[in-house]
Amino acid sequence: SSQYGDARGALIVLEGLDRSGKTSQSGRLVKYLDGLGYPVESWRFPDRETAVGKMISSYLTNQSQLDDHTIHLLFSANRWEKRSLMEAKLKSGTSLIVDRYSYSGVAFSSAKGLDIEWCKAPEVGLLAPDLVVYLDIPPERAAERGGYGGERYEQLEFQKNVSQYYKMLSDASWKTVDASQPMEDVEKQLKEIVLDCVVSCQKGKPVSELCI
Ligand code: TMP
Repeated sequence: SSQYGDARGALIVLEGLDRSGKTSQSGRLVKYLDGLGYPVESWRFPDRETAVGKMISSYLTNQSQLDDHTIHLLFSANRWEKRSLMEAKLKSGTSLIVDRYSYSGVAFSSAKGLDIEWCKAPEVGLLAPDLVVYLDIPPERAAERGGYGGERYEQLEFQKNVSQYYKMLSDASWKTVDASQPMEDVEKQLKEIVLDCVVSCQKGKPVSELCI
């Protein structure tokens, strides 16, 4: 435990296109923080383990069809069903490295043509990340990386469209890391940014609600 008795954990979100390296990097970050003695967990959305998550998974693997609005609300519901646990973890001092969050929700559904404000609405009231890191990669580069796995959204033209919406959603608080660099370089930059955030949250930066 730290010198700050009731120190809270940091909510750190990694965003980016499919195959931008989020999953590998979040694993490395968790190891790093854990090695430094910070309580930390790796989370991801969609969380495919819950009942809602199973519906999402079946949709993504093309085993079921859903109206665009319906799947959008399921992705959001999947975050809402984890909200109270998320808050409890943060308050108890555990930092969370979260692979995708509301920004994925809005960017992917808007890229299909849904109204962006409609897409944002169900996200309001979720917890605000303390840090959003965007792993920035040209869609063409991402597509070359070992190929897409064949899930519903893993198509170049669609990913190009998603990247435009991520740009629209980003603000000055986001940290952008060039994800086309070698993995070790990305890792090094991420560690520095993330540690800074964990330390500032320990010093008492309050938990707040999402503004998107
Ligand atoms: P994953 O590959 O990170 O598990 O994400 C599965 C896909 O779901 C990915 O193409 C991004 C998409 N997605 C949404 O469309 N809306 C969301 O809210 C989230 C979290 C992911």
